[in-house]
Amino acid sequence: MAPSGLMFAFAAWSSMVTITQAGNESHARNASAAISPLLLVSFDGFRADYLEKYPLPNLREFYSDGVLVDHLTNVFITKTFPNHYSLVTGLYAESHGILASTMYDPVMNRTFSVHNHSIDAVWWNEATPIWVSVQNSGYKTAAAMWPGSDVAIQNKTPTYFMKYDSKVSFRDRVLSLTDWLVRDEAVRLTVLYWEEPDNTGHTYGPDNVTEMTKALKEVDDNIGFLMQQLKSKGLWDKINVIVTSDHGMTQCSPDRLIQLDKCLNASTYTLVDETPVAAVLPRTNVSLVFNSLSKCHSHMKAYMKTDIPDRLHYKNNVRIQPIILVADEGWTIVQNEKHLRLGDHGYDNSLPSMHPFLAAHGPAFRKGYRLPHFNSVDIYPLMCHLLGISEKPNNGSFSSTRCLLASESCLDLASIIGIVIGSLMVLTTLTCLFIFIRNRVPNSSRPFARLELQEDDDDDPLID
Ligand SMILES: *[C@@H]1O[C@H](CO)[C@@H](O)[C@H](O)[C@H]1NC(C)=O
Ligand SMILES: *[C@@H]1O[C@H](CO)[C@@H](O)[C@H](O)[C@H]1NC(C)=O
Ligand SMILES: *[C@@H]1O[C@H](CO)[C@@H](O)[C@H](O)[C@H]1NC(C)=O
Ligand SMILES: *[C@@H]1O[C@H](CO)[C@@H](O)[C@H](O)[C@H]1NC(C)=O
Ligand SMILES: *[C@@H]1O[C@H](CO)[C@@H](O)[C@H](O)[C@H]1NC(C)=O
Ligand SMILES: *[C@@H]1O[C@H](CO)[C@@H](O)[C@H](O)[C@H]1NC(C)=O
Ligand SMILES: *[C@@H]1O[C@H](CO)[C@@H](O)[C@H](O)[C@H]1NC(C)=O
Ligand SMILES: *[C@@H]1O[C@H](CO)[C@@H](O)[C@H](O)[C@H]1NC(C)=O
Ligand SMILES: [Zn+2]
Repeated sequence: MAPSGLMFAFAAWSSMVTITQAGNESHARNASAAISPLLLVSFDGFRADYLEKYPLPNLREFYSDGVLVDHLTNVFITKTFPNHYSLVTGLYAESHGILASTMYDPVMNRTFSVHNHSIDAVWWNEATPIWVSVQNSGYKTAAAMWPGSDVAIQNKTPTYFMKYDSKVSFRDRVLSLTDWLVRDEAVRLTVLYWEEPDNTGHTYGPDNVTEMTKALKEVDDNIGFLMQQLKSKGLWDKINVIVTSDHGMTQCSPDRLIQLDKCLNASTYTLVDETPVAAVLPRTNVSLVFNSLSKCHSHMKAYMKTDIPDRLHYKNNVRIQPIILVADEGWTIVQNEKHLRLGDHGYDNSLPSMHPFLAAHGPAFRKGYRLPHFNSVDIYPLMCHLLGISEKPNNGSFSSTRCLLASESCLDLASIIGIVIGSLMVLTTLTCLFIFIRNRVPNSSRPFARLELQEDDDDDPLID
């Protein structure tokens, strides 16, 4: 009985799986005809748990009719430029070459800063951002201030773009993008960047609820404006929209200051990048500099380049300096200054406070679906899939994101538990039914059954 019940349950389970899988074959479609335009939006410094702590009604409306991923593991270092380039390339910083806000390349003997990021495309050319690939496959793209989108990377800027200018309002950025989308049907990919809530997080610290409430209300109003514009221009049901961020934010304090001058004479090294991951280029004796820095402070780790942990994927690039210093969460590295920002990011990418979230809406996405987590480098293969272009080599995986898509069949944990419980109930019912029927069947037609029953009677405790 038990084995056949299990087999039945298994058959029921596998037929359900087969049915759901067969469902997606009917979705076989003319790839080029079915491609919707894609809009990728980043709100700088939008920490994942702001979603739990602040009302954000427009964002909630956006993902309740779409998908939400609670948190993303982003890339080290958890700064703006490295992470925005990872989002559009699927590569860790060591592989795309934008490793920090300030970098020194010893081979070129040149220094990069976010303030002059567009002067020389050579810094960006180690990778191919998705807009270049989309253009190479014959479509157009449009960008509003996404880091790097005003640089002629591999000799191509997006088809339509704006020179970076923080003074251009969110509304003007959205109006330009939606105009380009409406006027030119060949535009397949658009990218949009906004500086908040990062600015407020740095200035007041993420623990300042009053200031963060104001900043996040504005961000949410901006999301509302974006949705309303897409609706009024007839794009809302046709466009796939991904809203995400580059990193989170953590509270800093003047009580958590690490002053390098207390440990080492500043003339012995060049500080290429400061906090919370300092890039140190020793001028003279490397091991002398390293020894002083490694003993400097209990809330700061010093690594020789070769010993940087593999999990950080931050080693294989000439633009990483011989020594890096990594501050613990909430600590600030300076040479001697006493002022600091009350909020900062850049710390270890395994810290939850450094993680952003992802929400998406559009014809390709499920409605009301939620996933706990994937890596931010996984967004790139997802976007390639949505746009029907082939992926460049990257560090992400489409398989971790595919369950967000309406066209993919996915058994989530809840359905698996449901199926198992369902099968057990069927099994139990059948067992009971079988026992019941066996006990009720008239004995006359089955001599052996009578014999069994008589044996059973012998075991009847009533005899005692
Ligand atoms: C069906 O789903 C499988 C696995 O999820 C996927 O590889 C395949 O491309 C899908 N087929 C269609 C026709 O969408
Ligand atoms: C797919 O759509 C394109 C563009 O609309 C069309 O040129 C092509 O013939 C279609 N292919 C198939 C197999 O239907
Ligand atoms: C690097 O460039 C600077 C000027 O920017 C120059 O003074 C220095 O000598 C150069 N170093 C090397 C090794 O070429
Ligand atoms: C970019 O800025 C950095 C840091 O301020 C500076 O050292 C470098 O010379 C600048 N590069 C160019 C090309 O202006
Ligand atoms: C938040 O920032 C405001 C403006 O600077 C300040 O007045 C207030 O004391 C801060 N609140 C906290 C809790 O730090
Ligand atoms: C740092 O080293 C330089 C050069 O060796 C020296 O002139 C200076 O006095 C030193 N500063 C301190 C604070 O020791
Ligand atoms: C560098 O410093 C270390 C430790 O202080 C010392 O043992 C070594 O001899 C120095 N090397 C050079 C080349 O000065
Ligand atoms: C990331 O992807 C690049 C390109 O495929 C590859 O060269 C690199 O080794 C990958 N990094 C890791 C840690 O797998
Ligand atoms: Zn940022």
